[in-house]
Amino acid sequence: MFEKYIGQDHIKDLLTTFITYSKSSTEPLQHMLITGGSGLGKTTLANAIAKELGVKCVSLLATNASEDDLIKAICNLSDKDILFIDEIHALNKKLIEILFPIISEHILYTKYQGVMTRFRVSNFTIIGATTHEGKLPTAFLNRFTVTLNLKPYTESELTAMTKLYLGQYKADDTMLNAIVNMSKGVPRIITNITNSVKIYLKSLGKDTLEQKDLKMIQMFLGVNDIGLNNVDFEILRYLSKVKSASLKTLASVLSIEAINIEQIHEPYLIKLGFIERSSAGRTITDAGRKYLIDK
Ligand SMILES: Nc1ncnc2c1ncn2[C@@H]1O[C@H](COP(=O)(O)OP(=O)(O)OP(=O)(O)O)[C@@H](O)[C@H]1O
Ligand SMILES: [Mg+2]
Repeated sequence: MFEKYIGQDHIKDLLTTFITYSKSSTEPLQHMLITGGSGLGKTTLANAIAKELGVKCVSLLATNASEDDLIKAICNLSDKDILFIDEIHALNKKLIEILFPIISEHILYTKYQGVMTRFRVSNFTIIGATTHEGKLPTAFLNRFTVTLNLKPYTESELTAMTKLYLGQYKADDTMLNAIVNMSKGVPRIITNITNSVKIYLKSLGKDTLEQKDLKMIQMFLGVNDIGLNNVDFEILRYLSKVKSASLKTLASVLSIEAINIEQIHEPYLIKLGFIERSSAGRTITDAGRKYLIDK
């Protein structure tokens, strides 16, 4: 199972057991939460689960979802199907209230022709994806009996993804390694880079990636050999000039959304050991200063 979903073996083993059981019984899968950073594979995993179970997956993006959107999605589901709620921490209170009786007794309470009415709904599974597990109300969080926490991918898993997405295009180990180093460990970045590689090589009529091609691609994508872009450098440069800075200050000085700094840029800069985050704010480390000087 899950041949094209690379890594996350701890999750795939568990899911294989659940899916095998569900297939041999009338029971749907338990409601699940998938947690992990942006681009790590939450949506892909939810779709892979539906495919392995052989059921339909109806997706709903919680951000701005209305009651109508939710009801429409639910009415489209049969027993064992999956309702995938992306960014589930952003679901509004009203929709969470609608989901409680659905989860506990498969009953939808809604106004029908002006009258509060009960409808029996299918016995489906909710899979929620979130980058912010802590933002879910506890009572709602507790309804999810299984939490699948995506782990960081290993170098060899990232290399396997790179090979998979390059398809028929060839790259030696040095080139594969170079792509992995640019990826910040994020599968979505790997697919972005490999797409650019394929388009670029196709335009040249080549099928093998060389160092000079990758240099051009780094230029197009605006990233360096370790995947840092202008914004990352702006953050480092600003922090090198001040003792420390709060997220709010960084966001306003650099005109970047705080959420992007927090979710996209900081995690990797912290992982590299270039910046540190504490209650006092963000600080550049000696390694971060050295990297700026060396570049
Ligand atoms: N484990 C994996 N194996 C192979 N490919 C993967 C894996 N995880 C992610 N990908 C690829 O990376 C891309 C991004 O993954 P996905 O959209 O599932 O991330 P996400 O966690 O849902 O991100 P977001 O939080 O931004 O919604 C997908 O196109 C998918 O093909
Ligand atoms: Mg997603």
